Amino acid sequence: MRRAGRMTASQQKALAELWPEYGVEYSAARLDLDALFGRHAPRVLEIGFGNGDSLVQLASDDPASDFLGIEVHDPGIGHCMIAARSAAVSNLKLIGHDAIDVMEQQLAHACLARINLYFPDPWPKKRHHKRRIVQPAFLELCAGRLEPGGSLHIATDWANYAEHIDAVLAESPLFDCAERREHAGDRPLQRPPTKFERRGLRKGHRIWDWRFEKIDL
Ligand SMILES: C[S@@+](CC[C@H](N)C(=O)[O-])C[C@H]1O[C@@H](n2cnc3c(N)ncnc32)[C@H](O)[C@@H]1O
Repeated sequence: MRRAGRMTASQQKALAELWPEYGVEYSAARLDLDALFGRHAPRVLEIGFGNGDSLVQLASDDPASDFLGIEVHDPGIGHCMIAARSAAVSNLKLIGHDAIDVMEQQLAHACLARINLYFPDPWPKKRHHKRRIVQPAFLELCAGRLEPGGSLHIATDWANYAEHIDAVLAESPLFDCAERREHAGDRPLQRPPTKFERRGLRKGHRIWDWRFEKIDL
């Protein structure tokens, strides 16, 4: 599941040198986030952070919160750690493993204030739509890991994925849509621009951003 990809020498060096500072090994045991971050604070999870530039920016802009990033692509993890070191952030930890496993196994019930899912793989071919991460079972997992009042932020640049997200979330008894924006890259919702967003904009795509609030049952 880990994607080695092509790594630059500096990304390889970062993985070796900076992993002890920022990295968390995957295991099937629950993480004690207070022990991991050395404090009790609101926790933000980013799923599939890519090269991590936007994750590091969010962590740097909000030192009162702790940020946990999950990504399977090793070069992205290396890039993110280099950016984290140059921004001198101390409220960021990374896990290099499948996000569903991590959420199911390592994260406790109601441990997160916010989940960010920015530009998830769109799987544009119809026969691949079932691989899209936004599905009812995923929403159930997110709702279980969010604390009361927690929020799920999603963005995409694929019109067909936006329709899918609207449909799956409209059917969900677990989340309310608190905010929805369709824009040209000029109105990101409580987030910095991301690498894949810029790539989509260069192709002439529009951008959709949502903030869903967990419904307290
Ligand atoms: C289209 S990219 C978007 C990256 C970044 N969020 C951005 O906007 O630039 C999707 C990312 O999700 C990661 N990804 C896909 N499935 C994943 C999973 N199950 N667990 C963790 N990361 C995953 C991919 O490796 C990829 O980096």
